[in-house]
Amino acid sequence: MKKDLLSIDDLSTDEILLVLDTAEAMREIGQRPIKKVPTLRGKTIVNLFYEPSTRTRTSFEIAEKRLSADTLNIAVATSSVLKGETLVDTAMNIEAMAPDMIVMRHASSGAAHLLARVCRSRIINAGDGMHEHPTQALLDAFTIREHKKRIDGLKVAIVGDLLHSRVLRSNVLLLTRLGADVWVSGPPTFMPHGIERFGVRVSPHVDEAVADADVIMMLRIQQERLAGAFIPSLREYFTTFGMTSERVARAKADVIIMHPGPMNRGVEIASDVADGPYSVILEQVANGVAVRMAVLYLLAGGADAD
Ligand code: CP
Repeated sequence: MKKDLLSIDDLSTDEILLVLDTAEAMREIGQRPIKKVPTLRGKTIVNLFYEPSTRTRTSFEIAEKRLSADTLNIAVATSSVLKGETLVDTAMNIEAMAPDMIVMRHASSGAAHLLARVCRSRIINAGDGMHEHPTQALLDAFTIREHKKRIDGLKVAIVGDLLHSRVLRSNVLLLTRLGADVWVSGPPTFMPHGIERFGVRVSPHVDEAVADADVIMMLRIQQERLAGAFIPSLREYFTTFGMTSERVARAKADVIIMHPGPMNRGVEIASDVADGPYSVILEQVANGVAVRMAVLYLLAGGADAD
């Protein structure tokens, strides 16, 4: 693998499959009474999160601990960032303490790429602005493959705030590469310009997008990134695009419902769908640990790191 994981485009198809296969083995470690192996003993990993996170930060930290890495979290709210220190200066100061990897989330698209240019440490992008969230797409693919035993040929409908979603971008790159038939649906104001060039089908009608779908992936309305009137009201959005059990009934009988979290219940997804029998939302969270263990292990050198 390359030095860093910044984008799904950093991975060849074989490397994506290697991550997914390695995650199967890593998941077994999490089922043992003692959930720890010495694989990354002596490695130091810094989690540098400039944006809030529940799932990603926690699952990276659990993954690092299960692999016996020395891990620390930089709390931006109590760091010198608040005194005006730049991202590069913060990174160079962390680098001076010789970590092996930095896992970073940042509100600006391209922030992880900037760090990768100036740092010797390996950089893992844990979400950069509206750009990419590669480990989320990897854990989503892992979850789909676990349920459907394949990704090639599946109809995957991705619905919601497409414009602001880094999860969309990483999933479109990954799922089209693995042969899925990806449909996207959302209001015109949330439709990224030229998205059809990425090999997806665009429908303004959610009922068409979810018809006979194998997978429905809902995306959050990113209220923190809405700098304008994108939708008339959240109630109207739910009526037009929200995932209800009536809409789920249009999909295949064994459809799975996904959401990267955090969810806005009653906005993009009804509670009975989020908690219902087709939902794999908490499985996605559980699989995130195994997938991130696989990414850390492979970036550290795979078998050479043992
Ligand atoms: N899916 C995801 O990135 O969730 P968090 O923002 O809680 O990390």
